[in-house]
Amino acid sequence: MALLLGRILEISGDPFQDGLDAVTIRTDGAVRIVNGLIAETGDAAALRAAYPNDDITDYGNDLICPGFVDAHVHFPQTSIIASWGKRLIDWLNSYTFPEEMRFGDPDYAAMIAARYFDLTLANGTTTVCSFGTVHPTSVDAFFTEAQTRGLRALTGKTCMDRNAPEGLRDTAKSAYDDSKALLDRWHGVDRLSYVITPRFSPTSTPEQLHTLGGLWAERPDCLMQTHLSEQTDEIAWVKSLFPEARDYLDTYEQTGLLGENGLYGHAIHLEPREIDRLSEVNAALIHCPTSNTFIGSGLFDMDGLTSRVRVGLATDTGGGSSFSMLRTMAAAYEIGQLRGRPLHPAELMWLATAGSARALKLDNKIGRVAKGYEADLCVLNLSSTEAIAQRADRASDAWEEVFASIMMADDRAVRDVWVNGNRVQR
Ligand code: GUN
Ligand code: ZN
Repeated sequence: MALLLGRILEISGDPFQDGLDAVTIRTDGAVRIVNGLIAETGDAAALRAAYPNDDITDYGNDLICPGFVDAHVHFPQTSIIASWGKRLIDWLNSYTFPEEMRFGDPDYAAMIAARYFDLTLANGTTTVCSFGTVHPTSVDAFFTEAQTRGLRALTGKTCMDRNAPEGLRDTAKSAYDDSKALLDRWHGVDRLSYVITPRFSPTSTPEQLHTLGGLWAERPDCLMQTHLSEQTDEIAWVKSLFPEARDYLDTYEQTGLLGENGLYGHAIHLEPREIDRLSEVNAALIHCPTSNTFIGSGLFDMDGLTSRVRVGLATDTGGGSSFSMLRTMAAAYEIGQLRGRPLHPAELMWLATAGSARALKLDNKIGRVAKGYEADLCVLNLSSTEAIAQRADRASDAWEEVFASIMMADDRAVRDVWVNGNRVQR
């Protein structure tokens, strides 16, 4: 049995609803891992005495956190991250679609999936919810790689039957058939979950959206992910493509694609009716801050929305400009500042772990360092560079130390990563 010693990030609730005390930092803590699960957490001296034969890893002052949960990514965009100078629609046409075209080749898809998980694990991310490409091979590559590494992971074939180039389009029927076949092949296998994935309303005909809404009705246990109200030009385009719809969300609502297991990425420019409906059905919104500044989309209303809906945090690679959830928390902080609401490090760490896990309906399995949870952990060195260490030296409490790493740290801060109770060799 493994016994990890260090400081521990402990989560007992939602800091946005329950107050900042819902996330605390225990000093001289211990985490005991048995058969891939967290069997016990507590005081280091007490657990050492109780389990003298355990295999001890002493992380000293490092912070043992839940592995980060990245609730919205595009693993096929790994190689085109940080592409210059475009807004959403031009960015998709110029950079994204040509790259996604390559994923019809299973060898290329497998190579990028392996590279992608190398990068996310190096950054302490242990679960991602990814879009695939239109090709079923992209989903097979992603799940095969995740399965080999023992990861809890989610993805789905991206469905598009219009406004995308030849070679990246399916049809309403093939989207249904391919999605269903992949769902039957992968959903619930090991730690893998299939997610029904219409890219967004502009690239699906109403017929395709209806067909996928039908599949979701047959398999309501699945999550459904898409994009919503990211840029104003996109919203105007949706309006012209769906003249009958009351608003952007209505294009999903009228086609059976609004529900509690729905994940709606970005959600920046929402109408009051949309927020009311999202709240009524208890949907999840996914905030992608580095993407929203990088593509120039706008400022997510964290304060207004966390009181109405479940919110997760995500990199949105490669629209987002980083694989790191630390960098993503920093960007969320900066967007909060621009909206006049500085997020506390307790809130940021919660969003990147338990909050995203809750958005993915996995909050009984991952996202906390607590008894019974799956042992996916990220161990952070809170003095990983000279610049951070000298700031941490001045900290008057642990949150000040954590905040310095949120704002300034990169993958050098990730001391160790544990997946399903096993230490990841890097
Ligand atoms: N909207 C539709 N597709 C995408 C995508 O790949 N990235 C982002 N950021 N927004 C989208
Ligand atoms: Zn996206």
